[in-house]
Amino acid sequence: MKPYSSARDEFKGEARVFLDANENALGSPTLKWYNRYPDPMQWEIKDKLSAIKKIPATQIFLGNGSDEPIDLLYRCFCEPGRDEVIVCPPTYGMYEVSANINDIKLTKVPLTSSFQLDLEAIEQAIQPQTKIIWICSPNNPTGNSIDRQDIEMILNNFDGIVVIDEAYINFSRQRSFIGDLSDYPNLVVLQTLSKAWGLAALRLGMAFASEQIISYLNKIKPPYNISKPVQDLVLKALDEVGQVNDMIMLLVDSRGRLEKALLELSAVLQVYPSDANFLLVKFDDAKAMYAHLLNLGIVVRDRSNVVLCDQCLRITVGTDAENDSLVNGIKSSNPQILS
Ligand SMILES: Cc1ncc(COP(=O)(O)O)c(C=O)c1O
Repeated sequence: MKPYSSARDEFKGEARVFLDANENALGSPTLKWYNRYPDPMQWEIKDKLSAIKKIPATQIFLGNGSDEPIDLLYRCFCEPGRDEVIVCPPTYGMYEVSANINDIKLTKVPLTSSFQLDLEAIEQAIQPQTKIIWICSPNNPTGNSIDRQDIEMILNNFDGIVVIDEAYINFSRQRSFIGDLSDYPNLVVLQTLSKAWGLAALRLGMAFASEQIISYLNKIKPPYNISKPVQDLVLKALDEVGQVNDMIMLLVDSRGRLEKALLELSAVLQVYPSDANFLLVKFDDAKAMYAHLLNLGIVVRDRSNVVLCDQCLRITVGTDAENDSLVNGIKSSNPQILS
């Protein structure tokens, strides 16, 4: 496939006068210096990420949130109406939504009751047309990390693409699979700036993979998929790794305290161990608790209709004040009204 070749892609070398891309040379009256198209390959950001993640810049793809590489992976590796993929619910919903949008058959192999991969069931579900296996670790909404050995077993035995979504990896003690990319040509690791980096509004998702896979994703992406203001802000943010690490430690600490406080409440039956910035919490009556909290202006995520998450709400770790409001809100629920 021949990708779109932008004016800036074709130009190489030094120049003073740019009359190649039909931009407005006068600029904008309000935002003066956004009149030029941004770097389609975002090399400055990739160079910084390369140093942080210890991987060559040519093995990094940047997208409009992780949702963009999720969609592009379907379009790259799956033929609509013919190919299929495997997901392991309960897990992040976009793997399924994106499969449906792209007319790719989705086979669901639920996690075990301890929220781990069911390797035997996955082996049985693999068909000749199975092109991708999606693994989310730490998993959303359960919060736990998937056993590394199980993931390695799949990487070693499945010859399609294995995507490991590490959106929450910074909140866990697990080692990222980015360091294993040279061992597995079929591995794609997804990460995002939306969680630990605190930049969900910017929409910057990252895919790490072999140079070959990254070159395919680059071929099919929209040419200027990361806007210039976002590139500028991300470049600035990436200088603050130290502060981000401090914030991660604070959030992990809050997660522990919130877990303890929740376990003391009579309405809480179970708090599942979390490697992420949220807790999956089992209540005596999740739907009633959800409604009660909403009434108090506190929004959590009702996961009680999701497989293996009966009576569960997913609760993001907030600021100390927000966590206190939540705990007080749950305390104020009246068991009589709830039942
Ligand atoms: C597992 C997982 N992957 C990806 C995302 C989306 O990330 P982004 O904001 O980069 O699109 C989320 C968002 O909640 C998520 O939970």
